[in-house]
Parts: sequence; structure tokens; C-alpha cells
Amino acid sequence: MLFRQIFHEASSTYTYILADSTWRDAMVIDAVADNCDQILQILHAEDLQLTHILETHLHADHISAASQLREKTGAKVVLSELAQADCADMSVVDGDFLVLGDDVIRVLSTPGHTPESLSFRWNDRVFTGDALLIGGCGRTDFQGGDAGTLYDSITSKLFTLPEETLVYPGHDYRGRWVSCVGEEIRNNPRLAGKSREEFMAIMAALDLPDPKMIDTAVPANRLCGSLD
Ligand SMILES: [Fe+2]
Repeated sequence: MLFRQIFHEASSTYTYILADSTWRDAMVIDAVADNCDQILQILHAEDLQLTHILETHLHADHISAASQLREKTGAKVVLSELAQADCADMSVVDGDFLVLGDDVIRVLSTPGHTPESLSFRWNDRVFTGDALLIGGCGRTDFQGGDAGTLYDSITSKLFTLPEETLVYPGHDYRGRWVSCVGEEIRNNPRLAGKSREEFMAIMAALDLPDPKMIDTAVPANRLCGSLD
């Protein structure tokens, strides 16, 4: 098992490289276009063959490196069936799994931040995209977001995983890298001890500005990050 977590400063996005150290196969989750060269360097330095490029959802705050990485490595781009993105090579649904060396990556459908949001479970950890963040969660006020749906996804899909499961989020804005399910169940201020109605009220009151890149990032990411 080989694992790297990369931070994209401008959008506070985390990219993850997952690899099997025996077979030298690798996958990347939420690759950012600006970090494409860094990802390729890591793959080269570790002698890894990229097989799949996974997206947790269609991002509104950065442009994906998916199409660039596909061009350079031949890896397949994987998106939720609900993304309706023609650029994807594979469309996945809840319960699907991808083989990575001797392990599998399980696909969990975790809608609410956006309808097509996925989480990916691998060994002792889960990559939650913008469904569950450390001490927070993704916003639900654009791109088809729905707070009640997000509450259901988090409480029924993520909070039912073993408490020691490591939580690797799609973003963090305060320098935190990892949490675990038990920590979020007990201490996430938006969710700990909160009813569905209370959670929905918290989300409705957030009143956040639109992400700066939403008008360019979402259309580009429908094309797997292609700028054409
Ligand atoms: Fe997002």
C-alpha cells in the first residue's frame, strides 16, 4: 500500500494517490489540473502505472486534471453515473468496486452536496469528497445540492462505517489532513447530536458567496477538466 495526499493551495483541495506496492498500479482521486505535473512526477518516481482517475463529484472550485492525466497515462476517468458527463470512461453507482492490486475500492453514493457525489472506501480509510469534511460538510446551496439528502448520506452511509475508519476529505481550510468516523460522529459541529431538521436549518443559514471559479470549473469538469 502506497498513499500520498497533495494539497492545492488556491482551492484548499486534497488530491489522493492510492497505489498497490506489489502490482505498482495506482489510482488518483480528485486530481487538480494545476497539480498535474506533480502527480505525474510522483507516479514516475514510485514507478507506478495509473489505471483510474476518480472524481468524487463535478467540482465547482477547481479544474480537474482528469483529461490531462488520461492523455498522458491512458488511465480511465471514473465518475458517477449521475454526473452525466460524456467524457467519463466509466460510470459507477453505489456498491460498485474497482480493483487496485490486491485490494478493492468500494463506491459509496453520498449525494447531497451534489446529486452525483461519491465517496470511495479503501482499506482502513474513506475519501469523502465534499460530503463530509473535517468538522464540517460540503455546502448544499448550488449544483443541485440538498441538505436533507446530505444528512441522510452522512448518517446512513458514512457514520455507519467502523468508527476507526480514517476520513480523508475533499477540502480543508484549516490545515487538517485527516479525521476518523468516530471523531466526526462525536465532534462535527454540524452533525453531532443534530436532527435532520436542525442540520437543514444550519445549512440554510450559511449564506456563503459563490465559489470564484464556478462558471468556468463546472463546464470544464463536465468535460473532465478539458479547457477546449
Ligand atoms: Fe464540491
